[in-house]
Amino acid sequence: NKQVPHDKSLDNSLTLMQEGYLFLGNRMKEYGTDLFEARLLGQQVICMSGEEAAKKFYNPELFQRKGAAPKRVQKTLFGQNAIQTMDGDAHIHRKILFLSLMTPAEEKNIGNMVAKAWEDKIAEWEQAESIVLFEEAKELLCRVACEWTGVPLDEEEVKIRADDFAAMVDAFGAVGPRHWKGRKARTRAEDWITGLIEDVRSGERAVEDETALYEMAFYQTPDGDQLDAHMAAVELINVLRPIVAISTFITFAAVALFDHPEEKEKLRQGGEEYLDMFVQEVRRFYPFGPFLGARVKKEFEWKGCIFKEGQLVLLDMYGTNHDERIWDQPFYFNPERFRHHPENLYDFIPQGGGDPKKGHRCPGEGITVEAMKASIEFLVDKIDYDIPDQDLSYSMARMPTLPESGFVMSNVRRKAE
Ligand code: HEM
Repeated sequence: NKQVPHDKSLDNSLTLMQEGYLFLGNRMKEYGTDLFEARLLGQQVICMSGEEAAKKFYNPELFQRKGAAPKRVQKTLFGQNAIQTMDGDAHIHRKILFLSLMTPAEEKNIGNMVAKAWEDKIAEWEQAESIVLFEEAKELLCRVACEWTGVPLDEEEVKIRADDFAAMVDAFGAVGPRHWKGRKARTRAEDWITGLIEDVRSGERAVEDETALYEMAFYQTPDGDQLDAHMAAVELINVLRPIVAISTFITFAAVALFDHPEEKEKLRQGGEEYLDMFVQEVRRFYPFGPFLGARVKKEFEWKGCIFKEGQLVLLDMYGTNHDERIWDQPFYFNPERFRHHPENLYDFIPQGGGDPKKGHRCPGEGITVEAMKASIEFLVDKIDYDIPDQDLSYSMARMPTLPESGFVMSNVRRKAE
């Protein structure tokens, strides 16, 4: 691949740990390219960024997910051999199962559940000196996720389950103790949910049909087989865990309201349309998913670069969401940019790109957006609060990242109607 910039470093894994979300973008800028090769994670990897790259990446003729996700990530974030690692008809069949749970009506339902759960918190917060928004959001979303999926959850269990789901997410870019914490959390959650699936199948526990618990327990693969109880648990956790992870975006939304106080008034005046623009800008601007990986299915050439069969390719999600070719002044927070931004499956990819029915794009975007909207409306319209001195900075090297303080609020009181 002579026409493509090659990063000469022996291995970039350390630099990746040091630069985090900006690693790929920094190299793209340095080489003046949206495509380069580098040694990373012990292999020769092609890194690419931008709308055109996303279009390639989501072409199932060119790329597959089998063998792409490192075991480290499967043992923490995804669960082993789960939907994220599947290809072809088997993947689409399972994807339809996920998508069937997330109808627009159910997405709204989750938004309403989140709104009500926040309201129910006010009285308690009025008695507290201060609260940490991220911690509160995690637990609240864990309750909502379990209730919505039909998973029974005792009040004493909420914190440990919420912390476990969060620890799986927190481990995705980690080595060392943070990784092991994520693995332990996954083992504990899988044991819990596997037992539940078994009880549902044996009839020991009644479950409402059309809940995610029911659908995962009784789903049949294209061959007509049920998933083994553990695999069903892993896929149910693929619904529960990411709902809890919305707490990260909610915390960043609060940071956005703090850093841009004028946004509160715009949200009050701007109705549903502005709320939607604000949510999109939070998902674009703040770092959460850094990049995605897939393997080349069959050799092809693009932009003078040979993509060899089996080679690992990374798509820069964070970089695409901050690509100057797409976004004017991408490092400014500005919801207005979404007022006239045409619908495009490949230029705005905080939860992956392409058509979720045909590829791996996140099926949970509607849920995420509704839960964020309910939370932002709550912060803007339902309560007043003070923001004590704290460290709201977030590291761009740590993946995933979060404001250091988790967003502390004090003197919370219900807004006068
Ligand atoms: C896949 C991000 C919320 C369920 C993904 C992918 C990303 C992502 C980047 C991978 C796309 C790809 O591989 O091409 C996020 C973020 C969320 C979020 C940042 C906000 C917290 C949710 C929610 C759910 C969900 C709320 C479900 C309730 C899934 C599933 C997949 C997935 C099942 C695998 C899809 C597949 O492999 O076909 N998500 N997601 N996510 N997400 Fe989300």
